[in-house]
Amino acid sequence: MTRSFPAGFLWGAATAAYQIEGSPLADGAGESIWHRFSHTPGRIANGDTGDIACDHYRRWESDLDLMASLGLKAYRFSLSWSRLYPEGTGRFNPAGAAFYDRLVDGLLARGIEPYVTLYHWDLPAALDDRGGWVNPDSAEWFAEYARGAYRLLDGRVRNWVTLNEPWVIADGGYLHGVLAPGHRSAWEAPRVSHNLLRAHGLAVRAYRAEGAHRIGLVLNLEPKVAASDAPADLAAAARGDAYMNRQYLDPVFKQSHPEELADIFGPGWRQPPAADYALTGEKIDFLGINYYSRGLTVNDPSAWPVRIRTIKNPSATYTETGWEVVPAAFTALLVRVAQEYGNPPVYITENGSAFYDPPVARAGRIDDPLRTQYLQDHLGAVHAAIAQGADIRGYFVWSLLDNLEWSLGYGKRFGIVHVDYASQVRTPKASALYYRDVIRRNAL
Ligand code: BGC
Repeated sequence: MTRSFPAGFLWGAATAAYQIEGSPLADGAGESIWHRFSHTPGRIANGDTGDIACDHYRRWESDLDLMASLGLKAYRFSLSWSRLYPEGTGRFNPAGAAFYDRLVDGLLARGIEPYVTLYHWDLPAALDDRGGWVNPDSAEWFAEYARGAYRLLDGRVRNWVTLNEPWVIADGGYLHGVLAPGHRSAWEAPRVSHNLLRAHGLAVRAYRAEGAHRIGLVLNLEPKVAASDAPADLAAAARGDAYMNRQYLDPVFKQSHPEELADIFGPGWRQPPAADYALTGEKIDFLGINYYSRGLTVNDPSAWPVRIRTIKNPSATYTETGWEVVPAAFTALLVRVAQEYGNPPVYITENGSAFYDPPVARAGRIDDPLRTQYLQDHLGAVHAAIAQGADIRGYFVWSLLDNLEWSLGYGKRFGIVHVDYASQVRTPKASALYYRDVIRRNAL
């Protein structure tokens, strides 16, 4: 049975600056927190860093040809803030900006629509020295950078994303410390989340003054499903949902915060001043949703501070990052967002899976049946959500290339294109060829 997508459905692939570019200090760029973090012993698996990554900073042109050969209609990538503003604010660095100039022109020349994320986790280190996202001034720093980026690229770029995944920034960077800058504080985390949403709101306002097209926000959403009917597990799932999903959805769409946050953060929680909701709830043109998995949730009083734990489903497939494969939960999530948050225009800005692939391709081939199946099943899930009325406009697979999976290093491969890191040879995997076919037919 052929399942067609709506006419004009946008097909793309996504990446992020620090994960693929390499040459992090080239052409006058400043250090980012990820550069620092990856050069701190013990922070990243294998001692991996983004110093070379996919060498995309130098191989961008052949990478654009690769995108064109796969038939991509759109490409989502992020700008490195510290290439444009080496100290984070103040001095603009034209030599760093020139990289994105060339990249955007190259995309347009190939008929590929650029989707630009302003912030995918690589805060200029100079701003971390001033307190990073804990400092309330961070919202203004971000707005200044955003304005510089709009002046450079708006018009050629017609679709902007302010932040990628504020939850991961706050949870990984400031609550549990497994991501840069590596803090561990239940006092900082809610402040960071709030400052991020204020930064987002100011950047949207700046865009209304300077830009002429569309701007949105990307959230990673994970349905939290209680593992049993026990009241404690049901409450745990509700807490997990409030913490991971509603902490961001509610201020953006409903100008409120879930009540559970006060219980989760205890004395660390501070209800934002009512006036801030006008800012965090600034109207966006689309919501980007990143979906990878669901969380099968139990109550766990020992798990600081949310008191939840994700348990294994013995009958499910798991990816190499330990995530349960559940396409039906993706459909349910998309329908829920449509029903509870006013059916906003949605792009799936990331979805994908890490499964083992050998480091070197043999005879120009990489067969990746598990990733291909994941892709097929999750595209089916998106199709089903559209059939139930969700306003979904496009899909970006994560990721175009195997790349630096943050603290997990290069060992986890999410690409539909294989990267041999020793030679930098790219090989489209079977999943890429499958995806090319879906794009060509606009159908499954
Ligand atoms: C991030 C990506 C990351 C992917 C897989 C998302 O949370 O935006 O940068 O590589 O998930 O973990």
